[in-house]
Amino acid sequence: MRHQIISLYKKADMKGFAIGAFNFSTNEILKGIITAAQKLKAPVIIATSEGERNFFGCDESVAMYNVIKKKYPYVILHADHTHSFQEIKKVVDAGYPSVHFDGSKLQYRHNIRETKRAVDYAHANNVFIEGELGSITGGSTTHKEKLKDILTDDLLTNPSQAKEFVELTGVDSLAISIGNAHGIWKDKPKLDFERLKQIKEQTGKFLVLHGGSGISANDFRKSVELGINKININTELRIAFAHALIKGLHTREDYTPYKYLKNVSPTVSKIVEEHIIIFKTNNKI
Ligand code: G3H
Ligand code: ZN
Repeated sequence: MRHQIISLYKKADMKGFAIGAFNFSTNEILKGIITAAQKLKAPVIIATSEGERNFFGCDESVAMYNVIKKKYPYVILHADHTHSFQEIKKVVDAGYPSVHFDGSKLQYRHNIRETKRAVDYAHANNVFIEGELGSITGGSTTHKEKLKDILTDDLLTNPSQAKEFVELTGVDSLAISIGNAHGIWKDKPKLDFERLKQIKEQTGKFLVLHGGSGISANDFRKSVELGINKININTELRIAFAHALIKGLHTREDYTPYKYLKNVSPTVSKIVEEHIIIFKTNNKI
């Protein structure tokens, strides 16, 4: 499977589009993502963080992925922000074809050692692996602070360090910190495009932009032009899900779940569709 995934990233890199990675922790969100991808004929990554897959179930995520793949084979299940070797082993053994080892909170040399260990295990099992260098701050929710008051320069990815990091670890792709952060903040993120350009030049690797919620369409387009190949979206889907659910519950006629949940997946789908169009992933299957 790893080589098929690499081929898709290569296609994205050459044709100038980015693969959307959308997080899910409920069936309604998952359904919303798949419906949008199918409608727009887009390859898509469905992702679970550690918390999300603890809630949904690790084996259950793989089981759903296998069911979906039979109807729509252009889907990749991805283990997002996985912080330990044990957890990497767990998701690889469960059948995730793509994983993200996030050692960004570790000291640089320690991050290299632990990432390399995760890479060796993933590659031995034919699994694609993303590493992370530089710290992507915040969680996938709304924040009361301004990002500019939180984001300090030392959190950003250093281009020459990134070159060494990818060489020593052998990761297939790299998540970078260029002014992006998880969640929606009181101010708009300001992306450092010069840094992105340098990281791409130095590493030549597939690059990943986390913290997609709140980034403008223009900034997405520019990021893709400069070498971003995968973009992660979570908070906007969580907000869409919650609002549609609250509305459904408020206007419900009775207690039948498929009635008050009726508009949840379509609401999520709309957000996913918008992003697929911006990322130019439509008609790329
Ligand atoms: O790993 C997940 C993403 O980076 C999501 O970021 O919640 O800002 O969309 P977001
Ligand atoms: Zn992330």
